[in-house]
Amino acid sequence: MCGIVGYLGPAKAAPVLLSELRCLEYRGYDSAGVAIIQDGELSVLKAAGKLNNLEKLITDNKPTATVGIGHTRWATHGVPNDQNAHPHLDASKTIAVVHNGIIENYEELKDELIKDGYAFESDTDTEVIAHLISKVYETEKDMLKAIFKTVGLLRGAYALGVVSQKHPDKIYAINQHYSLSVGLGNNESFLASDSMAVRQYTNKVVRLEQSEIAEITKEGVRLFAFDGKEVKRRPMSLDSNPYVIDKGGYKHFLLKEIHEQPLVLRQTLAKYLVHPTKPVSFIPHITPNSNGAATNNEEENQLSKSYGVHLTEMELKGIDRIQVVACGTAYHASLVGKLIIEQLCNLPVSVDIASEIRGRRLMVNESSLTIAVSQSGETADTLAALEEAKKLGSFTLGITNRPDSHLSQITPNLIVTECGIEVSVAATKTYLAQLTSFYLLGIYLAEARGAITTEHARKLKSDLNAIPTLLEQILAKENEIRLASLKYADAHDVVFIGRGFNYPTALEGALKLKELSYIHASGYAAGELKHGPIAVLDSKVPVVTVLVPGVVYEKTLSNAQEARARNAQMIAVAVEGDEQAARTFDTVLSIPAVDEFFSPLLTVVPMQLMSYFIADYLGKDVDQPRNLAKSVTVE
Ligand code: AGP
Repeated sequence: MCGIVGYLGPAKAAPVLLSELRCLEYRGYDSAGVAIIQDGELSVLKAAGKLNNLEKLITDNKPTATVGIGHTRWATHGVPNDQNAHPHLDASKTIAVVHNGIIENYEELKDELIKDGYAFESDTDTEVIAHLISKVYETEKDMLKAIFKTVGLLRGAYALGVVSQKHPDKIYAINQHYSLSVGLGNNESFLASDSMAVRQYTNKVVRLEQSEIAEITKEGVRLFAFDGKEVKRRPMSLDSNPYVIDKGGYKHFLLKEIHEQPLVLRQTLAKYLVHPTKPVSFIPHITPNSNGAATNNEEENQLSKSYGVHLTEMELKGIDRIQVVACGTAYHASLVGKLIIEQLCNLPVSVDIASEIRGRRLMVNESSLTIAVSQSGETADTLAALEEAKKLGSFTLGITNRPDSHLSQITPNLIVTECGIEVSVAATKTYLAQLTSFYLLGIYLAEARGAITTEHARKLKSDLNAIPTLLEQILAKENEIRLASLKYADAHDVVFIGRGFNYPTALEGALKLKELSYIHASGYAAGELKHGPIAVLDSKVPVVTVLVPGVVYEKTLSNAQEARARNAQMIAVAVEGDEQAARTFDTVLSIPAVDEFFSPLLTVVPMQLMSYFIADYLGKDVDQPRNLAKSVTVE
């Protein structure tokens, strides 16, 4: 939810911190700040609002310090303003802390500190940590001991960066249930919540695991468990291409990422589906680095081992139910995944919103497979739900776009999508890649369990391989979709409906419109409209219907006609040449003919484009919508 960075070395720290923060702005952009130590003096520059406000402060102050930490915030405690912006200082103004996560017992700790005479300047839980470290340091006179003792007092999930004026040659990092990486350069070191932020400087990183503390110097890093024992860990090499944040000529990252979808599908399919006559394999035969070359680098191969699905055929055959946990868009992809696996494998699949699982009896055991779907691999609710399933003995599997995420650390089975970094906060290409992963997983399970014939498997794989070209046909009609969409830009309420494989598509379409344009939108099972939601329909309400040939076509069309009878504005996502659709709807966003089973891979794209064009027309911040963040690491 927030981004933490750090730097120490020969260069000026502030520009490096800013550049690292630029890579993490997707995690939250309510405010940003840096703490730097210059000529033995700790100073803080911070501002509410976007990173540009901090950049102006740095430009105006021209700090020459060569050590510092930085933070970009998604507010949890305290409104986004200057005094709640991180870093936060202790009373002596000699220790600065940046924080991601929530300290669940901060109020009782704060009350104790106030009783001891400490004054607070912010409404944040973070400030409590700065005072605690300082208070303990007064007796211990040793920063590591002060930090060990402080973390012993904290409850919750958090990641911290700490600098002390008394130790200007060190940065301390603390990880409890989050992700933090230390980048190792030549006589310089870096810290970041997401290793992507250090790739521009080095591809050698050491990840902090759970309940670990790092003491970082220019020469390297020492790791300690919370019990004080030192931990040895070899650096990992990230893929060789430093991450470049580049819109590639598009107006927004979102539009670029919508257009990347055919390539993303081709890359994900190529990785796991060598040929329609070959079985789906989730252990890549090569470990392509980012420029596609196979490597036999031991570290990368070690990384690739965590990529695969390592369940034996016996285990796969013994699974008698599947539980999927996810949030938001990933939850919608999981609803499609349920239908895919049930249809191909005749295996019951439950899908739950991860935050709803918490505190509920999870119906899994040793013959269950629990799947966590998360593009960031950092969503706290999803990770916690998977941990619950592990405790009950379930097999686990992750589907993520980030093999260097927390999710990859907590499950032995991982399907990694090939999207590249998705910069825009709204998920598009990662949604399609999650769907693709479920199609591949469904075929993989069906083949392993003998649930489908060889011929059926071959047909499925060949149909799947045809999807990227069909996507390109939709994207080629972008301008037509733009003009059709803008007719509805002044709507205040929009309803999306779909049935069967496209009920989740309706949910995803509504979410995209909401999070991009801030227009209220709701997605419903088409058959549910008449059970209440139809009351909201009138001539001011557009209704978007997903209508594809298949077992639910006629009924979906009837539901749409019920909406038309209430004078709703009628939009359809329908197959080219569908004459009934042309007669029934005011606007048809057409897709190429496709089997209903695979249609979710196509039907969502016109909705993505519709939401994008309306949001852009309304002047919204398309890549960083208000109140959102790319990875939701608080519960
Ligand atoms: C998607 O457009 C949203 N930004 C959000 O719903 C997102 O899908 C959700 O927070 C889950 O994120 P994850 O895939 O990283 O777990």
